[in-house]
Amino acid sequence: MAKTSSSKKTKTRPSLADGADKYALYRLSVQDPEHEVSMFRRFYKDAFGREATSLREDFCAAFAVCCEWVKTSKERRAIGVDLDDEPLSYGRTHYLNKLSAEQQQRVTLLKQDVMTTTTTAEIIAAQNYSFYIFKRRAEVLRYFRQVHRSLADEGIFVFDMMGGGAMYADDVVEGRQVARPTAQDKLDNPPFRYVWHQESFDPVSADALFHIHFRFPDGSAIEKAFTYDWRLWTLPELLELLDEAGFSARHVYWETDDKDGNPSGNYRRALRGHADPAWLCYVVALK
Ligand SMILES: C[S@@+](CC[C@H](N)C(=O)[O-])C[C@H]1O[C@@H](n2cnc3c(N)ncnc32)[C@H](O)[C@@H]1O
Repeated sequence: MAKTSSSKKTKTRPSLADGADKYALYRLSVQDPEHEVSMFRRFYKDAFGREATSLREDFCAAFAVCCEWVKTSKERRAIGVDLDDEPLSYGRTHYLNKLSAEQQQRVTLLKQDVMTTTTTAEIIAAQNYSFYIFKRRAEVLRYFRQVHRSLADEGIFVFDMMGGGAMYADDVVEGRQVARPTAQDKLDNPPFRYVWHQESFDPVSADALFHIHFRFPDGSAIEKAFTYDWRLWTLPELLELLDEAGFSARHVYWETDDKDGNPSGNYRRALRGHADPAWLCYVVALK
């Protein structure tokens, strides 16, 4: 049957959100694998005065950090661990395939639970607050013990943390426009706004619910592209759990300020932090 003119009129063009790739937008917004790898190398050198070769990326999702790690030396191998096939297969198609055949051979992917994986490495990293999904102290302790067992004798466990008074709140929305750095990227992704939305915080349980939304200039959006149901652990709680899990030492690397008093993106070992409303730090624990 021939199409009517009214059906032609109602036919709409796909929105920018329809064609967008949420993993690519995530990487552009919140991930900097080169920076992570350079931090891990520095933390390891600070601890043992030499370079590490093996990295295990727990909660690796699309394992961008593993791919970056093996690019930095022919000696390096990486192991990515995640439970979910979707991000793992995204990473295989979009990141792993871009490595040389030789580099690809130095990346191992394990579809496993981080609570039970036993693969050893000199560095085990859990980035982007991933273990905050463990809401009970006993679960975090079990995970930390598992990491401790898996580390090489000269090994470090690295994770990043966020905190500050601004996080003890409901309905906080922060957004920023994300620049598209390369011509190639412009082809793949429309301009977009990254929105970090804290829906709730419960002072009794310290549970907090977060979403990432991506919004586009044509008014379309990927709402709740990613959702995180976390417990907001505090730094002293986690430092005590590291001690209990058997780590011999741990250091906090606090973000320094630039000359205008804004966060610099650089981190320095610190014994005290600042009561900023929103702060970031790395924790490095030695086996
Ligand atoms: C916040 S994302 C991680 C993102 C990534 N690490 C980064 O830095 O951007 C959390 C990931 O942890 C995975 N995950 C959750 N529980 C897990 C578990 N028990 N074992 C392994 N992976 C798990 C999820 O499938 C998801 O891909």
